[in-house]
Amino acid sequence: MTAAGFMLAGAAAQAQENVGPFECKDCHGAEYAVWENTPHAESYKDIHKRDLADKVTDALGERSMKRSDTCGQCHYTEAPNKPGGRVSNNFGPSCESCHGPGSEYINIHNVYGPKGTKKEDESAEHKNKRYEESTAAGMRWPRWRKDIPAMPASQNYAVAQNCFNCHGMARDSLDAETAGKMLDAGHPLNPDFELVKYSQGQVRHRFYESQSENPEMTPAELSRFFVTGQAASLVQAANALKKTDHPKYVAAQNARADKAKAALEATGLAEAKALIADPTEEKARALVAKIYTEDMDLTAQVGSMLPAKSDYK
Ligand code: HEC
Ligand code: HEC
Ligand code: HEC
Ligand code: HEC
Repeated sequence: MTAAGFMLAGAAAQAQENVGPFECKDCHGAEYAVWENTPHAESYKDIHKRDLADKVTDALGERSMKRSDTCGQCHYTEAPNKPGGRVSNNFGPSCESCHGPGSEYINIHNVYGPKGTKKEDESAEHKNKRYEESTAAGMRWPRWRKDIPAMPASQNYAVAQNCFNCHGMARDSLDAETAGKMLDAGHPLNPDFELVKYSQGQVRHRFYESQSENPEMTPAELSRFFVTGQAASLVQAANALKKTDHPKYVAAQNARADKAKAALEATGLAEAKALIADPTEEKARALVAKIYTEDMDLTAQVGSMLPAKSDYK
């Protein structure tokens, strides 16, 4: 990162806050319409009323799911209920749970240059700077873009890893003792969460070209995204296993690690072997960078492991 980047990161780090999905809706109406109809948005209405919510909050000695900081890490977006409104756990997981808290990047990530500059007139230098500044301000860009040289070719790893923070119960901020108590009280830890299966169904929003087209991934894209998910799953499971020897937690994380290793092994890539031997983020990013920069189609290697469309969540 450049010196200016560091300064910006320092300044922006102070006040990265959620602005709430309404603020994104103005420009990203199509994405909002997708999100609105997913369990991420809909669970807000009633998840705290399910029997299990009481069991899990009781086990932790917490009074209310909606007010609990522990549950809030994965179940809620702490944001104003409307522009200028009261800040609280007002939404389920939302735009900013996946793309980063927006307060500092919302007015940077979409500006192509001096006032009035159109998208097609943006300079290459400005595009790089726009990426660097919005990233330093907390934005997680959703996919690797060749037209932004400053973006690491392993960008898609960051997106995948973030799903597992919640879905793998592998969040750094969740301590092992709390996780163990949650599992004992019946909280799910789904070892079948797989990136393609869970991202290409109702959650899918890929309006890159226009607000009316939400195309499916091509087979080659699916194969790369699948491998990216397995890399993230393995690293997260390995990190989680270092935290605790709670039997349910260990069993679920081992199940995930075994599946991921089998899928990574099947790619036949040296980078995948290195990752299996030493499951670190660095090794995972090396693999992800390789398959994206070389535009690999891994269908022949992992195609048979991909979920059927009818099984997409
Ligand atoms: C004033 C309009 C506006 C608002 C408000 C806005 N965006 Fe954007 N956003 C854009 C534009 C325009 C782009 C395309 C930038 C480009 O061409 O690279 C974009 C791009 C993005 C991308 C990257 C897409 C890609 O191609 O990789 C993400 C993710 C994103 N916005 C998320 C958000 C989130 C989350 C919020 C709310 C916190 C938000 N945006 C609010 C206009 C907006
Ligand atoms: C590390 C992230 C994480 C934390 C922390 C967390 N949850 Fe969850 N919770 C999830 C995920 C992910 C699911 C969905 C699991 C699935 O279906 O695969 C879920 C599901 C649930 C469900 C629905 C289960 C069902 O099958 O209907 C309830 C109820 C729930 N959580 C309660 C809580 C409560 C109460 C807390 C706080 C004490 C909490 N959770 C903390 C991630 C988390
Ligand atoms: C569960 C995580 C998640 C949530 C919630 C989420 N996104 Fe995304 N978003 C992604 C992923 C993953 C991609 C990359 C999709 C791809 O390239 O296949 C993406 C891509 C995008 C893009 C670029 C593609 C496009 O549609 O133009 C934009 C813009 C975007 N998201 C905005 C939003 C907004 C606005 C919201 C809230 C209304 C939102 N996202 C909610 C994960 C999420
Ligand atoms: C901030 C935490 C969080 C993040 C990040 C997150 N999720 Fe979720 N997700 C949840 C919770 C909590 C639920 C359960 C809601 C419920 O039970 O109603 C859920 C539910 C889902 C469901 C519905 C599952 C079903 O069985 O119907 C899908 C699909 C899903 N998530 C996909 C994703 C994908 C793909 C990503 C990453 C791109 C992602 N999620 C990131 C918390 C999160």
